[in-house]
Amino acid sequence: MNTDQFLVKSALKHLEKASFTWQTPSNIALVKYWGKSNPQIAKNASISFTLNNCHTITTIDFVKKEISDEAEFNLFFEGKEKEEFKPKIAEFFRRVQEYCPYILEYKMIINSENSFPHSSGIASSASGLSAIAMCLMSLEKELNADVSAEFVNKKASFLARLGSGSASRSIEGPIVVWGKHPKIEGSSNLFGVKFPYKVHPFFENYQDVILLVDKGEKQVSSTIGHNLMMNHPYAEGRFSQANQNLTKMSKILQEGNREEFINLVESEALTLHAMMLTSNPYFILMKPNTLEIINKIWEYRQENESNICFTLDAGANVHVLFPENEKENVLQFIDNQLSSFCDKNQYIMDSIGLGAKNI
Ligand code: PMV
Repeated sequence: MNTDQFLVKSALKHLEKASFTWQTPSNIALVKYWGKSNPQIAKNASISFTLNNCHTITTIDFVKKEISDEAEFNLFFEGKEKEEFKPKIAEFFRRVQEYCPYILEYKMIINSENSFPHSSGIASSASGLSAIAMCLMSLEKELNADVSAEFVNKKASFLARLGSGSASRSIEGPIVVWGKHPKIEGSSNLFGVKFPYKVHPFFENYQDVILLVDKGEKQVSSTIGHNLMMNHPYAEGRFSQANQNLTKMSKILQEGNREEFINLVESEALTLHAMMLTSNPYFILMKPNTLEIINKIWEYRQENESNICFTLDAGANVHVLFPENEKENVLQFIDNQLSSFCDKNQYIMDSIGLGAKNI
């Protein structure tokens, strides 16, 4: 794998201090990534919708200092210093310092906030790590004028991936593929790429309402979750199924086949959970209300000839996906019939977005 392209080879400018702010989104996978090998290489390719409203805003102030062996930083989350978040970020900096040696010459003050409620059960690692990666790349661009905008996105995705695999899909939008796949031109195991084909207008501004069924801490951390696939009896079958599903999804997105989209998205969500049900140790990440919601969605779809469908992350919350022209009716359905299954009736309205924004 050609990781050499991400090493810093030219001499860098001297810069005493700098500050950058990036807003980067969360994303929701349609074909899921579950299972990886070192260093953060997915066992199968995945594809996701980039979200618009669920995002992290991060500012990093860089102040030049003597070079050190480890990155030095302070971390503030929503205005308060967060020691408990530091080990994950320190590990991220250790993984990227080979590619961003300049971080060892700066003291970094990181200020971060999420648009979605803290502990809403929505993973903030994708948006959080992609925002830090973009700030690092803004610094790299200041230090080296030869760095192109295209390279900034590519390397930011590469760096974000080293922190959290799905974060590699949070730099661009509206649809991103991560993982080398024979049917997706330019795809790579090292970074996410924008879906390179014309998408059918049916998927334009597609909606995602996230029903907050369980706002607690994740029952299975990502690291433990991916490791469950190491000795999983169905692992190889799953990895090849996911790659085949990506071939199908690529065609569906180009041709706009609604029924096939619904079928594939729901099947992927249930398969992700089936992997957890059939691993050892085993986990049930859905809650009774997750199932209540799924059944209501199926009923509503049938009765109203709707294109509504659901997907799930590694948790109990339900992502309700539907085309924009159904927004009014579906929101009414959610208010009347689904919100009562959510923690404090809470849900988040979102839609497909375009990726990282410099602010
Ligand atoms: O990026 P990670 O290591 O948190 O893994 C994310 C895995 C899923 O969210 C369950 C699926 C996916 O492809 O986003």
